[in-house]
Amino acid sequence: MRFDDVTQAIGNTPLVGLPHLSPPGYRIFLKLEGHNPTGSVKDRVAKYLIEQAEKSGELTEGRRILEPTSGNTGIALAAICRVKGYPLTCVMPENTSEERKQLLTMFGAELVYSPATEGSNGSVRVAREMAAADPEVYMPFQYGNSANALAHYETTAPEIIADLPEVAAFVAGLGTGGTVTGAGRRLKSWNPGVKIYAAEPEYGDLVYGLRNLDEGYVPEVLDQSVLDSRIKVNSLKALEATRRLAEEEGIFAGVSTGASLAVAIRVCKRLPEGSDIVALSPDGGWKYLSTGAYAPGDVAKIAERISGTLWA
Ligand SMILES: Cc1ncc(COP(=O)(O)O)c(C=O)c1O
Repeated sequence: MRFDDVTQAIGNTPLVGLPHLSPPGYRIFLKLEGHNPTGSVKDRVAKYLIEQAEKSGELTEGRRILEPTSGNTGIALAAICRVKGYPLTCVMPENTSEERKQLLTMFGAELVYSPATEGSNGSVRVAREMAAADPEVYMPFQYGNSANALAHYETTAPEIIADLPEVAAFVAGLGTGGTVTGAGRRLKSWNPGVKIYAAEPEYGDLVYGLRNLDEGYVPEVLDQSVLDSRIKVNSLKALEATRRLAEEEGIFAGVSTGASLAVAIRVCKRLPEGSDIVALSPDGGWKYLSTGAYAPGDVAKIAERISGTLWA
C-alpha cells in the first residue's frame, strides 16, 4: 500500500489467530496494534485528537500541544506533531524508561517531569496546572476527549468487523477506556450480542498502560454501559500470558497484551463453544525490554521485580 505521509499509514493492522493458546473449541485472535507507525494503538488516538481539534478550530497552526503521558500516546503525538508542524510538551513521571524519553526527544518533544511517587495522576496534575497558567497551549487530554473513543469507533472496530464478522466477544485493557468504549460501542451496534470485556489490573497492582477504576479516577471518556464485565487480572498472570505468547505463538507483545489475552482465555467458558474472540494487543514488546520482563528466569520473581516499573 502507498501513502502520502506517515499519518495515512495508521491503522489496518493485522488480526492474527492463536492456534496454540486458544482453548479447544474456541478461536482467539489478537489485533496487533504494534504494527502502527510508532508501534502502538495510540497512533490512531493521537491522529484523531489532533485532527478533531483542527476541525473544531481549537488547534491553529503552530500552537503548542501539551499532554500528560509517559508512553504510547506521547510517542504517537510526537511523531504526528513532527509531520504537522506543532510543537509538543509531554508531562511524565520522572522514572519513565529511557527508551520512552529517547523516542520523545528524537521526535522533538519537550519533556517535563512530575514526581515518580505520584505516577500518571501526578502528570495529569502538573499538566493541568501548566495549561491553566498558559492559555497559548492546547491540551487534547485523552482521558476526557471523545476523539479518543471515536478513533476506535471509526477505525479499530470496523476493521475487526471486516476481518471477522462472526466475532462473539472483544477484550481490551482499561487505560483511558477509549478502546473498550469506542470499539465496544461500534461492535455492539453491529451485533448487540457481541460481549465486551475490559481487562483491569487488581486493586493496588500495576500493569503498564492499565488502571483499576476503584483506585479513584474514572476517566471521562469511559462509558461503562458498553461493558458486559470488568475482569480483574494481576500483573503476574499478565506477564505469564505475554511470555507464553512469544514462546508458543511467536508474537512479541507488551505486557498489557498479556493482561487482555489472559482475560480472553478465561472468558471462553462463558461463551458458546465455537465462539471467536478478539483481544486487542496495544503494542509490541520493544519498549519494555529494559524492564527485564522477557529475561530468562522464574516468572514470579521477574513479575515481582518489575511490578514497580510497569505502571501507567
Ligand atoms: C500499553 C497500553 N496498553 C493499554 C492501554 C489502554 O488503552 P485505552 O487507553 O484505550 O483504555 C494503553 C493506553 O492507555 C497502553 O499504552
